[in-house]
Amino acid sequence: MKIFKVAILLLWVLFASCSQLAFNVEARASSHSDREIEAKLKLLNKPAVKTIKSEDGDIIDCIDIYKQPAFDHPALKDHTIQKIPEFFLGSQNLSTFQAFQTWQKSGSCPEGTIPIRRIREEDLLRAKSLDQFGRKPPIHFVKSTNTTNSNSRIFNGSDVYIPENRSKAYLETVGYNFIGAEADINVWNPRVDLPDDFTTAQIWLKAGNGPQFFESVEAGWVVNPKLYGDNSTRLFAYWTTDSYKSTGCFDVTCPGFVHTGQVALGIAIKPISHSRGSQYDINVGMFWDEAGNWWLKVGKNMPVGYWPAKLFGATGLRHSALLVEWGGQVHSTMVKKNPHTRTAMGSGDVAQHRWGEACFMRNLRIKDYSQQLKYPAIINTRAEEPYCYSVDNDVKDGQEPIFYFGGPGQQSPYCP
Ligand SMILES: *[C@@H]1O[C@H](CO)[C@@H](O)[C@H](O)[C@H]1NC(C)=O
Ligand SMILES: *[C@@H]1O[C@H](CO)[C@@H](O)[C@H](O)[C@H]1NC(C)=O
Ligand SMILES: *[C@@H]1O[C@H](CO)[C@@H](O)[C@H](O)[C@H]1NC(C)=O
Ligand SMILES: *[C@@H]1O[C@H](CO)[C@@H](O)[C@H](O)[C@H]1NC(C)=O
Ligand SMILES: *[C@@H]1O[C@H](CO)[C@@H](O)[C@H](O)[C@H]1NC(C)=O
Repeated sequence: MKIFKVAILLLWVLFASCSQLAFNVEARASSHSDREIEAKLKLLNKPAVKTIKSEDGDIIDCIDIYKQPAFDHPALKDHTIQKIPEFFLGSQNLSTFQAFQTWQKSGSCPEGTIPIRRIREEDLLRAKSLDQFGRKPPIHFVKSTNTTNSNSRIFNGSDVYIPENRSKAYLETVGYNFIGAEADINVWNPRVDLPDDFTTAQIWLKAGNGPQFFESVEAGWVVNPKLYGDNSTRLFAYWTTDSYKSTGCFDVTCPGFVHTGQVALGIAIKPISHSRGSQYDINVGMFWDEAGNWWLKVGKNMPVGYWPAKLFGATGLRHSALLVEWGGQVHSTMVKKNPHTRTAMGSGDVAQHRWGEACFMRNLRIKDYSQQLKYPAIINTRAEEPYCYSVDNDVKDGQEPIFYFGGPGQQSPYCP
């Protein structure tokens, strides 16, 4: 047993030094200089009060709450950390979420600190550019002759334009001022086929002027090997104030999100559901407080943190959201194309297969100025490429509706 362990250790050391060499070579070959990378890492990874190594490979740094990346944002230099809104108090239950956070088996962060997943040099090297690190690509609209069922299309005369390189299947609600939304999101680990592809199951809350000009706060799970370095399913949060053009990012990979809770972003979540086997879900929600901040919570009202009001426009999300979407999105240069990517959405199975096979969201709720949590009044389901990723809202009298979405991409015989 001991010899075995030593051998493993030796192998590991050998592997580590080889891969170190590989990184160095790559670093020199890439467009970003060593100095730029070092500076970026220093900016992203604040000095840790304590470091926890998770058994799934992630490193979690416990950072002084007042020294977190958010304070690097020019609008947040003198920001005062906000109190947890009252509607979260009294009903918190961390144990409902702890099961999903493997790292917590290896320790916890001391009081006054918050857990942040450490960014490594190799994470930056995988990014197209240092500026693009941690960000969804900007939306680019292309002319389409195909009929596409999406609220993201724009019209110009008789021409229809659709977003390039992203494909969505979702349920939306409009018609009110929304000040919160949540759902239980079924957890799966869909296949990601191409190194730059990623696939999400998430909630969007948006405000603005149509598909080209909006602000958005988002959360759910994602498989994104380019960003995180592996194919595991991870909890994520996202924000933008200019429809992904130049602001916002995943998690805390740029200054903006103020972390307050003991749930880390970007961490792998477990367990994963199995086809015709056990089903697991996580509750995710985003809620506005009177001051215009948007709070992210998971599980039973466990706040992760918030996006400060100052990030948003006065008539935008600082005021309310005008559109809420629940569903999946595949980002790939090979969607809406032939041959299509094989990257899957949801469970990788079509929505029509429903419980135990398709990915679901249930207990969809919105909050409006009445302060009540309600199932949305006006809903629409949409699939931009129904033959690749489909939707199916299962509504039965007297029962909680269940929204199913997803598909296998090109592995479906109907997908080009
Ligand atoms: C918290 O959730 C767990 C798991 O669902 C449950 O067993 C426990 O009773 C809850 N605790 C409280 C205080 O609600
Ligand atoms: C429209 O559909 C055809 C056939 O599926 C495909 O070849 C073409 O790339 C699509 N175009 C756009 C812009 O989506
Ligand atoms: C709309 O079409 C007109 C005429 O074809 C063109 O000049 C203009 O640039 C188009 N606008 C956009 C936003 O594509
Ligand atoms: C992710 O999965 C794909 C498809 O199975 C595989 O080709 C790729 O190597 C995996 N990437 C990582 C980083 O494990
Ligand atoms: C979309 O993908 C194509 C490759 O097919 C690429 O040339 C283009 O830059 C991408 N667009 C965006 C906005 O990322």
